[in-house]
Parts: sequence; C-alpha cells; structure tokens
Amino acid sequence: MERRHLGNSGLDVPAIGLGTWQVLDVRGSEEEARHEVVRAALETGADLFDSSPMYGEAERVLGDALRKLGRERATVATKVWTSNDREAERQIQDALGFFGGCVDLYQVHNLVAVERRLDMLHELKNEGKVRSVGATHYSRAAFGDLMRVMRGGRVDFVQVPYNAADTSVTEEVLPLAEELGLGVILMVPLGSGRLVRNTPPDRDLEPLREFGVETWAQALLKYALSDRRVSCAIPATSSPDRMHENAKAGEPPWFGDEERECVARLAREA
Ligand SMILES: NC(=O)c1ccc[n+]([C@@H]2O[C@H](COP(=O)([O-])OP(=O)(O)OC[C@H]3O[C@@H](n4cnc5c(N)ncnc54)[C@H](OP(=O)(O)O)[C@@H]3O)[C@@H](O)[C@H]2O)c1
Repeated sequence: MERRHLGNSGLDVPAIGLGTWQVLDVRGSEEEARHEVVRAALETGADLFDSSPMYGEAERVLGDALRKLGRERATVATKVWTSNDREAERQIQDALGFFGGCVDLYQVHNLVAVERRLDMLHELKNEGKVRSVGATHYSRAAFGDLMRVMRGGRVDFVQVPYNAADTSVTEEVLPLAEELGLGVILMVPLGSGRLVRNTPPDRDLEPLREFGVETWAQALLKYALSDRRVSCAIPATSSPDRMHENAKAGEPPWFGDEERECVARLAREA
C-alpha cells in the first residue's frame, strides 16, 4: 500500500482506507462479520478508518474491532457533528472512549458550527488527544464555505467527494488544498455504490491491466488516486474480499491523463 503525506500535517496515511458509513452500522450477531472487514483493512495496510457519530453504531463497532485487533495499528478519522456544544462534548467523549483516548484525525462534519468545533478540536490537539484537525463537506454548494475554512489556517486537511462522475472539487477546492499544503481525503470514490452497479465489459478494462487493474472498482479507485493531490480514498465495503480488492488499487503505477479519460468515459457509458 502506498503511503502519502496528509498535506503538511507531518502524518502519513495509506492511499486506501475504509469508509464506515452503513457498513459498520450494525448490531449484535452482524458485528463479528464486520470486524473481519476491519481485519482485512489492517492486513492490506488500508489502515485509515473514517467514521462519524452520524453513522449510527459505526464508531462503537469500529472501536470494538480495533480493541481486539490492535488500536495502535490504525489511523482513526472520525467527526463531530452538531450545533449543540454539550452534545459536541458528549460525541467527543464517546469517541475518545471508543478509540483508546486518541482520535488521530478529527473532522468537523458538514461544517456544522465549524468555528466553535475547531476551537474544541484544537484544545484536544494541544492536550495530545488529537493529532490532526480537518473539515468535511459532501456538497458542491458548500465548497465556498469550505474554502473559507481552508484559508482560515485551522485545518490540516479536508474530506470531499471526488470520483469519475463527480470532479467538481478539481475546479477550486483541490487547487486551493495544493496551494495551502492541505491533505485531501476522498469520500464516495465509488459514488456510494452507484458507479459499480453496472460494470463495463472486461475487454474495455484491457488498457488498464498494465496498471494492476483487475476489476472495475479498482479502475475507479485508481482514477481518483492518480490525482496526486489526493492523500487517501475511503471506499466503504461490508466484504473482506472487496476490502482486499480495493486495497490493491492503492499501489502504483498510477494512471496518466489517457487512462483517466478512459475510466471517465466508461463511467459515463455504464
Ligand atoms: N463527510 C461526509 O459528508 C460523507 C458523506 C458520504 C460519505 N462519507 C465517507 O466516505 C465513505 C465512502 O462513501 P460511501 O460509503 O458513500 O460510498 P462508496 O465508498 O463510494 O461506495 C460504497 C459502496 O460500494 C460498494 N463496494 C465497495 N467496494 C466494492 C467493490 N470492490 N466492488 C463492488 N462494489 C463495491 C459497497 O457495497 P458492499 O458493502 O456490498 O461491498 C457500498 O455499497 C463513507 O463510508 C464515509 O466514511 C463521508
């Protein structure tokens, strides 16, 4: 697994991590099976895990898996998501409990009460309970606000959507991240599953084979990671086998313009 700088934060992260929205939001008898996805991620070096209190049970299930498999092997990225200060404090205490007293990358989810939340997260950073602070938004309509936060100098990285069918972050957000030396984590690299619903015929992937691409999902992930401004993509999966498949896309060689155009065209046609 290639490791990349998270901007100028001083931290290295794997090119592929695991998103936990929906896939770790399980209870009871399903939990053990999802711990196996976390195990597969750690085995492949895809050891960054993205979560949020918005994702139901996901933080707790991730914390339980890491307690069993080795918290120290993981980079935990979670979020605080509320306009209520007391609730924010509660979310943070819960997360510190789930993750052994430290959250590696703490993000303000959807920019909710962003300045007040950044105050809290920087206090935690000073106390050594957080290593890096970021902000996320999924919507193009919020990118103006996100860029104001980026320019404010209090985030080390951002989390934004980027895939072969949605390149809106390449217009202004990624150039600004590059200028400011900020890391970039990619949400929805498979379009929340929409882009893998229809798979192009095998022969269409032929030109990509020499880049280590065996499957359409790997082509899509490599598309995003071949933009060298990206630090880490976090596809979600509930399957250990797919975790192994996705992790392989985190290895060079990277696509050039021609291969990226090929994947974008296939995504349009699929
Ligand atoms: N901050 C925000 O506002 C925000 C918003 C959205 C997402 N996120 C983060 O970004 C992560 C990723 O986004 P996402 O979960 O929406 O979608 P995604 O990663 O783009 O796609 C996940 C879907 O793709 C399927 N999949 C994964 N690997 C596959 C493979 N190799 N072949 C075929 N299908 C595959 C999964 O199904 P299976 O489970 O069946 O494999 C799942 O349905 C989230 O989990 C979350 O951590 C953040």
